[in-house]
Amino acid sequence: MVEKITVVGAGNVGATTAQRLAEKELARQVVMVDVVDGVPQGKALDQWESAPIEGFDARVIGTNDYAASAGSAIVVVTAGIARKPGMSRDDLLNTNAGIVKQVSEQIKATSPNAIVIMVSNPLDVMAYVALKVTGFPRQRVIGMAGVLDTARYRAFLADALDVSVRDIQAMVLGGHGDTMVPLISYTSVSGIPVTQLLDRAKLDAIVDRTRTGGAEIVKYLKTGSAYYAPSSAAVQMCEAIVLDQKRVLPCAAWLDGEYGMSGLFLGVPCKLGRRGIEQILQVELTGDERAALAKSADAVREPMKVVGL
Ligand code: NAI
Ligand code: 2OP
Repeated sequence: MVEKITVVGAGNVGATTAQRLAEKELARQVVMVDVVDGVPQGKALDQWESAPIEGFDARVIGTNDYAASAGSAIVVVTAGIARKPGMSRDDLLNTNAGIVKQVSEQIKATSPNAIVIMVSNPLDVMAYVALKVTGFPRQRVIGMAGVLDTARYRAFLADALDVSVRDIQAMVLGGHGDTMVPLISYTSVSGIPVTQLLDRAKLDAIVDRTRTGGAEIVKYLKTGSAYYAPSSAAVQMCEAIVLDQKRVLPCAAWLDGEYGMSGLFLGVPCKLGRRGIEQILQVELTGDERAALAKSADAVREPMKVVGL
């Protein structure tokens, strides 16, 4: 357990993340910060009132003031606007870049030693904004996308194979968008290569569904985007850090030569521990996977130019 974890943004993803963090008692205090007066306060009080039933002692605090979040070990950033039907993640770019700049300045001033987990979209570009504005080392600014995208891929595979989700090992790399790269060559069911269990057409359909997994939820919800699986993903990353688990998880990391690329955030396998990203694992990729990763990197670089940092 750490003393304090802050979640910025008390909307769907932020509030669900705060509740999950508290239930797991990953911090003594979980602080929710939002710009809307009353929302973080009301949600935090409601969550704290669930503590006697759920049996957790982590104190949930809601506020509009970063003073209460000072000295946080981790700050999860979910502030911004979410996708509506017909909107791409990049449509969110300009609005969310302004919000994330302002949030990053506050984090730098109040929690200078924090590890930042970026959730706001477009994810890879917002992580870049946070890295630049905070000036934190790259080990301490991490984007959440790969854990979510991989969870979707694993869930769809478990359905298709009628096996437990627990037995599906997989990894989705690349940017958090339609160009993401589910790695079929590293997908297995308790060690059995998935290509021995599903034909190529079925696998390709699952890969496509994974790539549009976020939009599939938006289409159903109509007024917002996914938040149960996204909050689970953010909390799994927090848990790996707080408990120094050295988990190997796909995260958006700032590349400095890894996979032959530099100067952008991209989803790659990372070892997460108490210091944040403790290692980026470089794995062998097939020619097609390398080409797909390069294409995904191009899709991330394009919107990076727009934010002008
Ligand atoms: P939401 O609209 O429910 O919540 C956003 C919250 O941010 C609102 O409560 C709003 O008041 C707050 N906010 C706006 N400006 C702020 C500021 N300057 N400081 C603090 N709070 C501020 O949206 P939701 O569903 O929670 O999504 C949040 C973000 O996460 C969106 O950008 C969404 O696209 C992204 N997202 C990313 C995922 C990923 O895989 N990386 C998955 C799911 C969502
Ligand atoms: C998702 O993948 C919207 O990025 C969000 O659900």
